Amino acid sequence: MRRKLAAGNWKMNGDSALLAELGTLANSQGDSAPQIIICPPAPLLTRAVDITKDSAIGIGGQDCHPNTSGAHTGDVAAPMIHDTGARSVIVGHSERRSAHQENDAVVRAKTKAAWAADLTAILCIGESEEERIGPDTLAIIAAQLDASTPNGATGDNTVIAYEPIWAIGTGRVPTLEQIIETHDMIRAELTKRFGDEGDKIRILYGGSVKPGNAAEIFQAENVDGALVGGASLKAEDFQPIIDALAAS
Ligand code: 13P
Repeated sequence: MRRKLAAGNWKMNGDSALLAELGTLANSQGDSAPQIIICPPAPLLTRAVDITKDSAIGIGGQDCHPNTSGAHTGDVAAPMIHDTGARSVIVGHSERRSAHQENDAVVRAKTKAAWAADLTAILCIGESEEERIGPDTLAIIAAQLDASTPNGATGDNTVIAYEPIWAIGTGRVPTLEQIIETHDMIRAELTKRFGDEGDKIRILYGGSVKPGNAAEIFQAENVDGALVGGASLKAEDFQPIIDALAAS
């Protein structure tokens, strides 16, 4: 059985007020809640870990450099993230891929760096709108998954987040049939390559997940949870998504 996971990606948002809201969220989780991970910006990691300690909420980073240290101004290394007490990190988000020219090889290297630092990599893949409309959508996503994921992926060290780029921050989501078809394909690719471990790797859906559509999305067998952007910034929006996941 794969444990359900609700992950929140704060992106470049967050301050002391939002950390206080995180404290409220941490205090209101019951024992039966799914796993919850919040990924705040790097400067807030230490405080976020502190605020959520002894709670059901874990903390993750949003990106890591492939190297462990060195002359890389502005970058954050995976061991630094681990040192804050965070235990996971997002890699390959489409905003990193597009704004920082990160290709699959870079994402693969970052994933290896995350593993080496004992962080679970939340590895993002997903097609553009043009690729969704075209005839090769599933093949394109499969190729991205294959090229971005290093050998040695397990249910412990890797979570895949399928995030169609055109659905991020737009309020648009794929149809349930498209989500099912894509997640089933990702599951098949993971088990083909990683055997039994491939069946243990969680696959999250991300892109405009809201309280109003979460329950429908979580119906899909191979949707093990969500990676949530905008709706993770308010406890009153994120909590119903956690609840929908718990009930699914
Ligand atoms: P939104 O939920 O704001 O669409 O963002 C999704 C996302 O990019 C999470 O990583």
